[in-house]
Amino acid sequence: MTAFTITRRRLMQSAMIGLVCHRAWAGSRCGEPQTPDNNQPLGPFNAASTAEEVTAGLDLTGKTALVTGCSSGLGLETMRVLALRGAHVIGTARTQEKANDACQTVSGKTTPISLELTEFDSIRECASIVKSFDTPIDILVCNAGVMAIKELRIVNGVEMQFAVNHLGHFMLVNLLTDTVTRAKNGRIVILSSCAHHGAAPHGIDFDNLDGSKSYSPWDAYRRSKLANGLHAMELARRLKSTSATANAVHPGTIKTDLWRHLDRPAPDGKMNKSIPQGAATQCYVGAHPIPAGISGQYFADCNPVIANPIMYDKKMAKRLWVISEELCT
Ligand SMILES: NC(=O)c1ccc[n+]([C@@H]2O[C@H](COP(=O)([O-])OP(=O)(O)OC[C@H]3O[C@@H](n4cnc5c(N)ncnc54)[C@H](OP(=O)(O)O)[C@@H]3O)[C@@H](O)[C@H]2O)c1
Repeated sequence: MTAFTITRRRLMQSAMIGLVCHRAWAGSRCGEPQTPDNNQPLGPFNAASTAEEVTAGLDLTGKTALVTGCSSGLGLETMRVLALRGAHVIGTARTQEKANDACQTVSGKTTPISLELTEFDSIRECASIVKSFDTPIDILVCNAGVMAIKELRIVNGVEMQFAVNHLGHFMLVNLLTDTVTRAKNGRIVILSSCAHHGAAPHGIDFDNLDGSKSYSPWDAYRRSKLANGLHAMELARRLKSTSATANAVHPGTIKTDLWRHLDRPAPDGKMNKSIPQGAATQCYVGAHPIPAGISGQYFADCNPVIANPIMYDKKMAKRLWVISEELCT
């Protein structure tokens, strides 16, 4: 064997490894691969699939979904597609007017409700309206969110991104858990993000939840998204004796209003999905038969993937749960 053939073979091997790595990294702009978890049932969809594609052929008639943050981006698309497949979708937005406007753009059965996640009274009022319908919630999508707010803002004793992304949803889910467990296979889908990787290795800064010791717009976002993941994992453990499931989702990197707090417009080169593709994973986890029994997983590109180990930290998740309960009362 000549030196040339060895070099050539090595080159070919490197190219193959490069290709495999590229596939594993495709779909991620967070600097972390979205590696499918082969211990879980994998579906036929991928990063390019759209919300309509992952729900094609599904009849959601008779099912009720609740989608927070229905007034724009991924929430609006999720509401549109679930309603298109026959579900009755309760769409929440920060004001009744915004919720009405969003629901009016969608065909199918929708009910607009106002939900301001920084206001406990608004969360209680929203939950009480939903409960008054006396209908089980089959799909609860905790989708609303804010990202990288420049200046420190404190609401309900905590920093704003933690308040909106995690605490408000934590309270809403607690108030609605019994309506989800009443459904045949109720599913709670919590929007996290691959940004959670950036919160490792320290995780939730329990001694600085109000940001008064230090505040960084991106670190606060990363921790709030880790909190979303920890919440989903702990919720799944607590729902174990029921037929309901809870999972976390990374939707992709998508140009939406989420980027509004940045000084510059969202960088096109960093986006890897359209809005219909971005809404696909949450629609898949919420409605498709394949993940019906999957709970306590982190999904991206329409499959369970391996999260940063910190998302599986049971001690941190339990502590977050206890502190969140205290903060909501
Ligand atoms: N886009 C991405 O690249 C990306 C990546 C990873 C994860 N995610 C996650 O995906 C989810 C959806 O984001 P998106 O990209 O669709 O963003 P978006 O277009 O900005 O939508 C966010 C929604 O949340 C609502 N919202 C914001 N603050 C709220 C509050 N205090 N109370 C109630 N609702 C509030 C917004 O309402 P207003 O418009 O009235 O403020 C809007 O309807 C978020 O949880 C985000 O963290 C997105």
